[in-house]
Amino acid sequence: MGNLFAKKSMNKMMAEANEHGVDTLERVLGPVQLTALGIGAVIGAGIFVLSGLGARTAGPSLMLAFVLSGLGCAFAGLCYAEFAAMIPLAGSAYTYAYATLGELIAWIIGWDLTLEYAMGASTVSSGWSNNFVEMLNIFHLKFPLWLAYDHWTGLRQATDMVARGMVLSSHPGMVPGTPAFSDAMDALKAAHPPELVTQAHALLNAPHLFGVEIGINVPAFLIALVITAVLVVGIKESAKFNATIVAIKVGIVLFVLGLGSHYITKSNWGTDWHSFAPFGVGGIGLAAGLVFFSYIGFDAVSTTAQEAKNPQRDLPIGIIVSLSICTLLYIGVAAVLTGMVPWREVNIEAPISRAFLDHNLAWASNVVTIGALAGLTSVMLVMLLGQSRVLYSMAHDGLLPKKFFGDIHHKFRTPWKGTILAGLLAAIVGSITPIDDIGKMVNIGTLLAFVIVCIAVIVLRRTDPDRARPFRTPWVPVVPALGILFNGYMMYKLGIWNWVRLVVWLIIGLVVYFTYSRKHSTLQQSLEAKESVEIK
Ligand code: ALA
Repeated sequence: MGNLFAKKSMNKMMAEANEHGVDTLERVLGPVQLTALGIGAVIGAGIFVLSGLGARTAGPSLMLAFVLSGLGCAFAGLCYAEFAAMIPLAGSAYTYAYATLGELIAWIIGWDLTLEYAMGASTVSSGWSNNFVEMLNIFHLKFPLWLAYDHWTGLRQATDMVARGMVLSSHPGMVPGTPAFSDAMDALKAAHPPELVTQAHALLNAPHLFGVEIGINVPAFLIALVITAVLVVGIKESAKFNATIVAIKVGIVLFVLGLGSHYITKSNWGTDWHSFAPFGVGGIGLAAGLVFFSYIGFDAVSTTAQEAKNPQRDLPIGIIVSLSICTLLYIGVAAVLTGMVPWREVNIEAPISRAFLDHNLAWASNVVTIGALAGLTSVMLVMLLGQSRVLYSMAHDGLLPKKFFGDIHHKFRTPWKGTILAGLLAAIVGSITPIDDIGKMVNIGTLLAFVIVCIAVIVLRRTDPDRARPFRTPWVPVVPALGILFNGYMMYKLGIWNWVRLVVWLIIGLVVYFTYSRKHSTLQQSLEAKESVEIK
């Protein structure tokens, strides 16, 4: 029996990080590209889609929810920066845990990161597809419902469309988009009349497979594959592709701020605390747990450590600068959104583009739709990039099959097999599962990773105080402790079902660990070899 809490030696890790050869990753990324990768991973479905649900959950105090969530990320980000500079290896939080908390916790976190990266990419692929279908609508092109959504979402869309028609015909004077209209639709759907159900299935018009109606989100599937192909071809190409998209999406967010600020009605922000935060501090906390998704990704910068030219200086820059820029932009967008539209009327599927439509600015709404599409593309790119690098690191340590996940393509110098597998997984999950629940799992999984990294900073400052730290988290242990508190609070606010899902996912991971990884772990094998030499 090896040691479950065996730690990987830091000196050995550093030697591995400095290895160079044809089977290693290529060092090509500078500080600007790293910051762009951070922003590329961050601005996406969270701000363009989830901000709507956030506004309904917190009212105008959505701004504070973004501040709360941003603070949790800032504390965790400072801890990530210390580790990223100290152990510049591709595995990110997985590697940091291996050095400080031992193999079992490292495995748990590596497994957990799959929730953040691969499942995060799936969630975003589904948001991408919504925007794509919306963009086709701009050009009057229609996609069959069963090819544009997974079965459950397709049926929900069909039900919404039929219910809308029914409400319009029974209440001809009612204006779509108003609270009264939404209430009438909700009441009709809750009553579940048989004609609504029959007509919705007729509208869905899906073929049957083994007697089951099918639904496949084809755009989500295809975009995941396209992104995978870009990632296989090379890190430099991926970074260039990302930089172009980042410029477009930051431009769109600035456009939202610039134009939207002219359409703010101050009274929409409320006149006192109660109208500003209609659900109090609890509402702000819940909204923070939801919009946390919009910050996910800055940590993906640390997974490119072995591809950074000067990781010790540039990784902290990439993490902190990208996080700061995004936080400011988000607080601004939350203020503009809740200022443009009364919070009760903020749309849930496409809140920002609808806010412009509400002010009769169809052209601006179209610009936002196209910008969001670009934005979501780069989020998927960096998420899948992060996933393949974490798998690569785990394979390097023997915890996953090395021949497969550790294989670097001789020409492209990328871990191509792991990239393709992660891309396929994201494509399949994104195209056939309803994505809301997966999105919340992504949040809780990432929050857990943040909490563990914060703990690891405190632990390592005690166990290895003299190690060179090119970047030091300020005010340890206060900053990591606040990170644990803020991120732990958001985990708590995500509710019992998300905890259950997280625990089930981790149990599956433990089964894999005890049946495969433990036996193949390079570290365990070297410990056993050492023991047997000592016994002889
Ligand atoms: N932060 C990323 C997004 O909002 C995951 O899409």
